[in-house]
Amino acid sequence: MSPALTLQEGDWASLGEAAGAIRRCVFIVEQQVPQEEEWDGLDPHCRHFLAYRGRQALGTARLLPDGHIGRVAVLAKARGQGVGRDLMEAAIACAQRHGHRRVVLSAQTHALAFYESLGFVSQGEEFLDAGIPHLEMVRPLTG
Ligand code: COA
Repeated sequence: MSPALTLQEGDWASLGEAAGAIRRCVFIVEQQVPQEEEWDGLDPHCRHFLAYRGRQALGTARLLPDGHIGRVAVLAKARGQGVGRDLMEAAIACAQRHGHRRVVLSAQTHALAFYESLGFVSQGEEFLDAGIPHLEMVRPLTG
């Protein structure tokens, strides 16, 4: 049986090496996002989330100070196992703890159903970012 998923939350200084390695695989290599767009300088200002199975880091996400969730990435071999869902729930819970009234994100359109299953609703017109079609999505937070 494979070990259970565990989640870590922290800053870029502590999680950046592992989170950066996943984002390089997923965004820069797999999706061909230009390096200068991926490394946008915001990471030191974000809370970061890492999902592990055993000692292996499989996925990551970040929460910006303004309640924006982004850079949600799960290694191809680990998709469809709930890793992305666990990361999103951790980021949403963190936003809630920080007093945000809503969380927002720019969703790649292929991942709309993933975010809809987490309570996000799309708004506005489709736009291109790094050549990839996106839609803004929002989820209100209660309490
Ligand atoms: N299309 C439709 N539904 C999807 C989906 C997709 N591409 N990916 C996941 N889902 C659904 C799952 O079926 C699941 O639904 P369920 O709970 O009803 O079974 C739910 O979303 C959660 O799936 P999960 O296994 O947690 O997702 P994941 O670990 O595979 O992560 C991504 C999803 C999008 C983060 C992952 O596919 C990924 O990293 N893709 C490449 C990078 C990327 O595009 N990131 C998003 C940038 S906006």
